[in-house]
Amino acid sequence: MQTMAIIGAQWGDEGKGKITDLLAEQCDLVVRYQGGHNAGHTIWVNGQKTVLHVIPSGVLHPKCLSVIGHGVVLEPENFLNELSKIKGVTNVTPDNLKISSTATVITSFHKLLDGARESQGPEKIGTTGKGIGPAYEDKVSRRGIKVKDLLDKDTLVRRLSNGYAEKAILFKHLYHIDIPSIDEEVERLYRYGEALKDYVTDTFSLIDQKLSEGKRVLYEGAQGILLDIDYGTYPYVTSSSTAGAGIYTGAGIPGRRVEEVIGVAKAYTTRVGEGPFPTELFDEIGNEIQTKGNEFGATTGRKRRCGWLDIPLLRYSVKCSHLTSIALTKLDILSHIKELKVCYAYEVNGKVVDCAYPGINLYHAKPLYKEFKPFTDDFASGKPSKEFEAYMNFIQECLGIPVGIYAYGPDRAQVVFRQKYS
Ligand code: IMP
Repeated sequence: MQTMAIIGAQWGDEGKGKITDLLAEQCDLVVRYQGGHNAGHTIWVNGQKTVLHVIPSGVLHPKCLSVIGHGVVLEPENFLNELSKIKGVTNVTPDNLKISSTATVITSFHKLLDGARESQGPEKIGTTGKGIGPAYEDKVSRRGIKVKDLLDKDTLVRRLSNGYAEKAILFKHLYHIDIPSIDEEVERLYRYGEALKDYVTDTFSLIDQKLSEGKRVLYEGAQGILLDIDYGTYPYVTSSSTAGAGIYTGAGIPGRRVEEVIGVAKAYTTRVGEGPFPTELFDEIGNEIQTKGNEFGATTGRKRRCGWLDIPLLRYSVKCSHLTSIALTKLDILSHIKELKVCYAYEVNGKVVDCAYPGINLYHAKPLYKEFKPFTDDFASGKPSKEFEAYMNFIQECLGIPVGIYAYGPDRAQVVFRQKYS
């Protein structure tokens, strides 16, 4: 198998960082293809915690080349801070970390606009406030700044001026916020450009060449399929293509099929920000899962909403990204819980539906639950209980693809492979 992908099968925070880190060991490249520092990928190795936001989760394996593809939106200041933190943990150099010259830059204006809209706008999305949406808007409206533009001051002035007058009016008259001048922003971005120039390259050609040489590539998704701009629960989504289709545009591998597409899902469901959530729990069990699972956003620290595993949503995710297997995480959180349920279908307008197709109004979907005998596994013994097996087999049967990996704790070692990924 030459190509694999790790994709969040829910609303993000599924534990993709851990699975990527595990599989990166056997890969030559790990490529991020969308999103930005709104992501928070946490990896624990021997009790040491590393949180990555835009740097690929293969970076703890210095022999593996980490690539930030052109579909990513990059905030240079945040990238450089993350880089300096990670340098104390692993050997990262311009030889093993590359940024696409055509990735889009998140500027000060994007962050300010994101914050202004969230605090004053009529409809709150509950964004991470990192400027992700406004940066993608500028990209699509052809006013974006590319990483390569940071390396040339004249280009930077020209590109930044494009649209500045419009933004200045918006900030002054609608949001009543002072914004930096073009000169200030140019100086700031140019300085960062100088600091990151050694990492910048044409990643399209790089990936193409590595694939031709037979190297193994792992594509690392951020957020989850249900937050995809097209497939997700719009408008409560992020602004990028988080599903498998994003790999082809955001990393640049047109015409090639990714052989193994692993959907990462928690054994329950969580969501941060606004939007529908059919299996959300508002009771003691929901609080228990939230507390025991330490369900706080790795990027914003916000409390995550928690609910039971939702099979109709996962069935939809399997279809959206042609998932070939599932990595199920945080099973330890459900161990010893006094009640255990899985939503296998919804009742909508008196009809039973088993897949959360976009035509279904999730606010009106009544979850139908199958109740399971709770399991009390400690997992380390390597002998799963029959209650645990029953729970896993049910999920597998419902989804029609294997649960190839399951994780029972944050550490790299707390994982069981039920199939080979080689
Ligand atoms: P944005 O990506 O900051 O624009 O936020 C849009 C929506 O996506 C909000 O509901 C966020 O909470 C959610 N979101 C963005 N990134 C992540 C993530 O990494 N994990 C979980 N939710 C996320």
